[in-house]
Amino acid sequence: MQNIVIHGPCQLSGEITVQGAKNSILPILAASVLSRGECIIKNCPNILDVQTSIEILNYLGCKTKFENSTLIVNSEIISRNEIPDYLMRKMRSSIIFLGALVARTGGAKLTFPGGCNLGPRPIDIHLSSLQQLGVSINNIHGALECKILDKISGTDIVLPFPSVGATENVILASSTCKGTTIIENAAREPEISDLANFLNSMGAKIKGAGSSKITIEGVNKFHPSEYSVIPDRIVSITLMAGAAATGGNLILRKTDPNLIKSIFPIFEEAGCLIKTYKDTLKINAPEKIHSVEEIRTMPYPGFPTDAQAPIMAMLAKSIGTSVFVETIFENRFKHAEELIKLGAKIKVNGNVAVVEGVENLFGAKIRAHDLRGAAALVIAGLASYGKTIIEGAEYFLRGYEISNFPNCIKIEPTIED
Ligand code: UD1
Repeated sequence: MQNIVIHGPCQLSGEITVQGAKNSILPILAASVLSRGECIIKNCPNILDVQTSIEILNYLGCKTKFENSTLIVNSEIISRNEIPDYLMRKMRSSIIFLGALVARTGGAKLTFPGGCNLGPRPIDIHLSSLQQLGVSINNIHGALECKILDKISGTDIVLPFPSVGATENVILASSTCKGTTIIENAAREPEISDLANFLNSMGAKIKGAGSSKITIEGVNKFHPSEYSVIPDRIVSITLMAGAAATGGNLILRKTDPNLIKSIFPIFEEAGCLIKTYKDTLKINAPEKIHSVEEIRTMPYPGFPTDAQAPIMAMLAKSIGTSVFVETIFENRFKHAEELIKLGAKIKVNGNVAVVEGVENLFGAKIRAHDLRGAAALVIAGLASYGKTIIEGAEYFLRGYEISNFPNCIKIEPTIED
């Protein structure tokens, strides 16, 4: 176990290059098993979830090499199509290998995925959609045995909710189908488009990704490709929130302002100035920010649930009261209890959190419970007076490259009292 130690207050200012998107690279790495050759994937973030994906790829028989943000995956040989429970439990995205393995090998054997505890996170939409495609799925004491008798036949699938992961699994599983699959009510997140663009660069025929209707015409063969992952929009928002919480002037390089422009009004309402030019974004924060009226998480292009915790931390020291409504996950306010230990005034009632801005926060020993919650605690630690120790650094490292953050944030081994 490791801790994040922050000596605050520490202003987030200067220039930071934004890493590649976690939520793109994970499905893209699963998709790389389809290439039957060597894929060169650039702008790959060096985070724990990527290490887990590499472990899974190696376990399946792929050869991988990761150097300087470039990950090379050779999937010429896949020697098995099962994923052991200890790897499945390391992250939620392990389930995306299901669609890829079915498309490559005609079957897969795996268990239920782990990941951040944000309340119940079922995979019923993944499984029922794959069943509609003709995948037979047997749940034997938690072990999922999935196979197809012949090729998957294209069909029309209407998702009951625009689940990001289920959309990705259906795209992957049907990429080699007989005929055409149409997904209605598909998730529209930019990372879905990134996955489709990567698959198309390998020879897939996918249209409409980024809209709620995606058409996948099955192909027989893929070829290796070279591809660069889009910038991480949630990391960009986290860094902007860090700058806003600490009165910083920050320049983000290699970001994509178009992917996050829908949340600019929140920063502007808080009193920040934002300027963008191509892949660069500049945020100037006032000494003290203002509260924001209401933030309601929604599927893309709405306010991202992944940004809820970082923005809550940003507003902990604002002037006025802000209201958050979480509509995507049932239990995504665990960071609030920890922010309160730093002096924040937050009241949680079901899926609503009310944040009354305070004058100052003060360092304390707190605990991360999930990835974006950990990012929120880091922002609050930067804005607090004194030393903040955040237990559970691993959550943060699952999604953030620590090298992007200033020196006042250190990762240290846990010392038992
Ligand atoms: C992805 C993102 C995660 C983000 C989330 C919502 C990745 C790697 N992760 O997660 O960062 O927070 O989208 O934007 O891309 N649901 C079901 N049954 C299912 C699937 C989902 O009930 O079979 C529910 C979930 O419990 C949740 C909601 O649908 O309440 C959204 O989940 P989903 O869009 O699938 O999120 P993930 O793909 O897990």
